[in-house]
Amino acid sequence: MPLSDDLSGMPTSLPAEVIGDWNAVILGVLSHAASTGPALNRVLTAAPDFALGQAIRGLSCLLLARSEMVAVAREAHGAALAAAPGTRREAAFVQALGDWLDGHPSQAAARMQGVLDRHPRDALAMKLIHAIHFIMGRPVAMRKSVEAVLPVWDDHPARGYLLGCHAFTLEETGEYAAAERSGRDGIDLCPDDAWGLHAVAHVHDMTGRARDGLDWLVGREPSWQHCNNFRFHVWWHRALMHLDLGEHDAVLALYDADIRADKTDDYRDIANAASLLSRLELEGVQVGDRWEELAVLAEHRATDGCLAFADLHYMLALCGGSRDAAAARLIQRMQATHSVGNEAAAVIAHPGLHVAKGILAFANGEYSNAWAHLRAGRVDLQSVGGSHAQRDVFDRITIEAALRGGYVDAAEGLLRDRMHRRAGVADGYAQARLMQIGTLRHQAV
Ligand SMILES: [Fe+2]
Repeated sequence: MPLSDDLSGMPTSLPAEVIGDWNAVILGVLSHAASTGPALNRVLTAAPDFALGQAIRGLSCLLLARSEMVAVAREAHGAALAAAPGTRREAAFVQALGDWLDGHPSQAAARMQGVLDRHPRDALAMKLIHAIHFIMGRPVAMRKSVEAVLPVWDDHPARGYLLGCHAFTLEETGEYAAAERSGRDGIDLCPDDAWGLHAVAHVHDMTGRARDGLDWLVGREPSWQHCNNFRFHVWWHRALMHLDLGEHDAVLALYDADIRADKTDDYRDIANAASLLSRLELEGVQVGDRWEELAVLAEHRATDGCLAFADLHYMLALCGGSRDAAAARLIQRMQATHSVGNEAAAVIAHPGLHVAKGILAFANGEYSNAWAHLRAGRVDLQSVGGSHAQRDVFDRITIEAALRGGYVDAAEGLLRDRMHRRAGVADGYAQARLMQIGTLRHQAV
């Protein structure tokens, strides 16, 4: 039976008639397309013994950070091991899935980095390494991985997606002008590169250019309409821009119509929503009963124990929805997770637990206690993963705890540090807090 190369030129153990669907999977992973799952199902229906396809199914399950999906990932791993060995490259993806199932996502990323070192045009390896480094909060490693392959992607059909990934890594490492150029170049090549488009939105966020950010996003909706739930995250970025401009009605309208268009319980969707409601409340905006549905979902998901980043946003939702008992149970679960002994559990134990306790104390009006916990967690906050923009909600709560606790100098120090990371720019949020600090000092004289 004739076998085929994929769009990256990687030899596969797939018959020729399935390669179109497999390429659709690869393009779907790169573009965060909603069509990725159905395409993978078609591949595995036609070729159930395709070990790499089973490995991708398993790795996709683990990226969801849902406890019930671990069993599905384990089943996919079993199917992959039982399948024909395939190529050495394909076997490495299966081993990477096994690494992560054993609690070592770093090893999974390293395993796939080995694939990328041997096959630098492998788009699938490139994107999955990027995804794992992202959730582990390792932007330098993420950037290094992308930059190592850039020179050999000049004529790669997926070059635009690589430029989008490069844009994101540049942005997360503070190279804002280069990030914007790379993201714009990427979307010129691949107009459905929602990740690259959103990397440019990150640049606008980090450089305090909310109006420019709106100009960038408005009218480019076709670039993310094809996406899975990642589309909610792009809408979230647009809402952040309105928030910084003080356009709170626009934020709430986007929240209702787009960010929570579907009341999903994916941790990333709950994170978008809880983070935005928290920020609105810090600005004194009444958010009505919007916490309620989030709190119901978070109470259910808070037993997962898969990812500190998810836990912290569940805590925001539980506090927003006044779920005191569930919040206490989440703290207990996070304390117990410490004994599990895998990479995710270590981050949940620290800094996750400090930040979770800080959020809860803040919600209870115990500002000095909140400040103590948040300050302790802040040192290693990067390790909870996500982006600067996502973790900024914890920075804002920490600054607010310091202000309300009477630690004005500390609050100003945090603001200055935040500005330093943001190209020295005071965005709308920082300007308002610096004015508030000036007023507090004036009153104290
Ligand atoms: Fe983002």
